[in-house]
Amino acid sequence: MIIEPIISGVVARSAHPEGCKKAVDNQIEYVKSASPIKNGPKRVLILGASSGFGLAARIALTFGGAEADTIGVSFERGPSEKGIGSAGWYNNIYFKQRAQQAGRRAVNIVGDAFSQEVREQVIEAIETYFEGEVDLVIYSLATGVRPKPDGEFWRSAIKPIGESVSGATINLETQSWQDTTLEPASESEIEGTLKVMGGEDWESWIDTLVNSDSIADGFKTIAFSYIGPEVTHPIYLDGTLGRAKVDLHQTSHALNLELANFNGNAYATVCKALVTKASVFIPGLTPYLLALYKTMKQQGNHEECIEQMQRLFSTKLYGQDKIPLDGERLIRMDDWELQPSVQHKVGELLNDMNKDNFKDVGDFDGFQQTFLNLNGFAFDDVDYGKETDIESLKRLKP
Ligand code: NAI
Repeated sequence: MIIEPIISGVVARSAHPEGCKKAVDNQIEYVKSASPIKNGPKRVLILGASSGFGLAARIALTFGGAEADTIGVSFERGPSEKGIGSAGWYNNIYFKQRAQQAGRRAVNIVGDAFSQEVREQVIEAIETYFEGEVDLVIYSLATGVRPKPDGEFWRSAIKPIGESVSGATINLETQSWQDTTLEPASESEIEGTLKVMGGEDWESWIDTLVNSDSIADGFKTIAFSYIGPEVTHPIYLDGTLGRAKVDLHQTSHALNLELANFNGNAYATVCKALVTKASVFIPGLTPYLLALYKTMKQQGNHEECIEQMQRLFSTKLYGQDKIPLDGERLIRMDDWELQPSVQHKVGELLNDMNKDNFKDVGDFDGFQQTFLNLNGFAFDDVDYGKETDIESLKRLKP
């Protein structure tokens, strides 16, 4: 069959396996030529390893100087009668092929990271492949639901708190600007978002690993956060997601104390706003992303996930006498995003941007290209006219 991009709203319903392979290869190529990670970890567990920051971290740690072996957990769909499967499914497969070709161990566990079953599979994999200990755990899950113990679900709701917020969302399917007003979240929506995207599950994972004696001396763990400039605060930092991220920051401090017994550390790492499967879902954020991409590309300091992760591990988390932290013990990878020269220009663009001119004022082409690339589309050197054999894809195992 010929695979075409299918987009509903801001969700990709198809993925191109050859293009996913290309996306993985491009990231590998980048980290091989970048400033290397020195004194990096050798045995790494990544929760949320199949796309966005988690995949980029996995590639950086395997190919960008540390030569780490990795266990990656993700929730992805393979090919079936219903469709070709998700991009993350193929990212897992092609990452593993490349890692093995380079002599590295790469284990993929596909299942629900909130479940007990996946925790047991991970502990078994640490026993089998990592001699029972892990040096670094990266918590990079982005999801809208978390199962409750009673079989029900907590659901996140991306909403403001206290008062309604007006903004615009760009629909990628129709390439149109949609003005929206978001009503404030209810108490149970605030609570649901905290349960799904806050620090509780991260803490529970680390407790599980402590209890199974799987933590190496000098162990580290990080989870990703976002703060952003003031213009995004009504929908992000002051809203339900921000509440969850503040909880994550507090969890990092509690974990840091707990890990002292292992000479270990925990850090919340604040990243730059980027186009990922998860971020395009945040209502009201897209105009900011369009302005940010345009500005940072013009100023020559734009980064995607892979550049962010290589810089994190090579200049902040490893190889330094002291990890650079801000006054709240956060690692700041949003340092370039928040530079006054960047934010000043972004503010100007946002003031000018409207439903008629957003494609010119903002970097709409770049935004769309990145979104398509995440799903294996829009690479110049992939032959999209070539037939894809689904039966042979079904034989590929993560
Ligand atoms: P993503 O959607 O690209 O990746 C999410 C990963 O989580 C995927 O590997 C997916 O398979 C996995 N996952 C989701 N639910 C799962 C489950 N139940 N069990 C196992 N795996 C599951 O997301 P992205 O953007 O890389 O987000 C990762 C983290 O980075 C999130 O905490 C997000 O808030 C944070 N972040 C994102 C920013 C952005 O602009 N994209 C900026 C700053 C922080």
